[in-house]
Amino acid sequence: MLTGKHILLIIGGGIAAFKSLDLIRRLRERGALVTPVLSKAGEAFVTPLSVSALAGTKVYGDLFDLTDEAEMGHIRLSRVADLVVVAPATADLMAKMAGGLANDLASTLLLATDTPVLIAPAMNVRMWDHPATQRNLATLRNDGVDVVGPNSGDMACGEFGPGRMADPLEIVAAIAARLTTGPLVGKRILVTSGPTHEPIDPVRYIANRSSGAQGTAIAQALASLGAEVIFVTGPADVAPPEGVEVIRVQTAQEMLGAVEDALPVDAGVFAAAVADWRVADASDRKLKKSKDVMPRLEFAENPDILRQVAQAAENRPRLVIGFAAETHDVIENATAKRLRKGCDWIVANDVSTGSGVMGGTENTVIVIDDKGCENWPKMSKTEVAKRLADRISQALA
Ligand code: CTP
Repeated sequence: MLTGKHILLIIGGGIAAFKSLDLIRRLRERGALVTPVLSKAGEAFVTPLSVSALAGTKVYGDLFDLTDEAEMGHIRLSRVADLVVVAPATADLMAKMAGGLANDLASTLLLATDTPVLIAPAMNVRMWDHPATQRNLATLRNDGVDVVGPNSGDMACGEFGPGRMADPLEIVAAIAARLTTGPLVGKRILVTSGPTHEPIDPVRYIANRSSGAQGTAIAQALASLGAEVIFVTGPADVAPPEGVEVIRVQTAQEMLGAVEDALPVDAGVFAAAVADWRVADASDRKLKKSKDVMPRLEFAENPDILRQVAQAAENRPRLVIGFAAETHDVIENATAKRLRKGCDWIVANDVSTGSGVMGGTENTVIVIDDKGCENWPKMSKTEVAKRLADRISQALA
């Protein structure tokens, strides 16, 4: 989600500084690089050693450290980052920022930077409510500084009200939102992907050859255009994409439940190869071999997830995209399928033996909508995904 993003984290001097340790951990879990700056007042609440251990790097603290100046000037320190985060942002730090003071490393970095800044204020409720702090807050907002929190609640000083620093995960979400750009920012898109497994008994199941590669590539392409992606996947061969909410399911019925929970969305891309049938009475005990009797499986029809969403009276996404895996008469079958299911577009492909699509890395698709058919040349599944994501972003614009 934040892979390769560089965060300069300034830790101010407040009791909430201990939460910054968790913030560092959460950011690194998501692939971010964190350069911590611990203010002198911050050192009263957390130690440089604990900050450095969690960040996996040196902690900056002294403006006049000549070694640091030689190796990386404080101005450069603030500019290599993708985002400067101040957590906790104390009343004092906010006042310094608003007034343009630069008398220690933290305030100097904040004055010298041309990188976007996000602050997570934390202070006593009276200090927060004070006209001076509110004036500084308005100045900072006006200067383009983003603000997350503070939240209301019991405070360490025994009072109640706004002033608690936002939780680390809220700060992470605000950081991700600030760093995400692209034409799909603000759009929520559901993608189903992979096969489903329909149990016969506790050890056996019915499945299909879908690897999940195409659905995964689509989810990745949508996320890289800034969409909030909910990725509902059956047991796929490929790893789920970065930066999306992953919901893992086994069966078609579980997939339907996860899809319904994800609504409403702006668009739905139904790339999963959902099993059309399940075993009506899956056994909860392993079926045993017997010389004379072959097991007989009774089937029941699975819900058609795409059709249910496309034809729903409530919460129908603005754009519903189905896939059609066909082995013959691709255009005829897919055109009929689009109308039967009620979706806006169908991405049709030939999955006959020898096409190499199922489990392969390339795909040749035909996109069918109400205006007709678009034949795309053979290309990698990643390329198909990028082109489809672009087409989706134009449709939702
Ligand atoms: N689909 C679905 N739920 C199902 C079956 C299919 O959501 N129970 C979706 C797939 O994700 C795909 C589209 O419907 O987007 C078409 O899938 P496909 O297997 O090609 O179509 P079927 O409805 O199974 O039709 P048929 O097997 O007759 O070709």
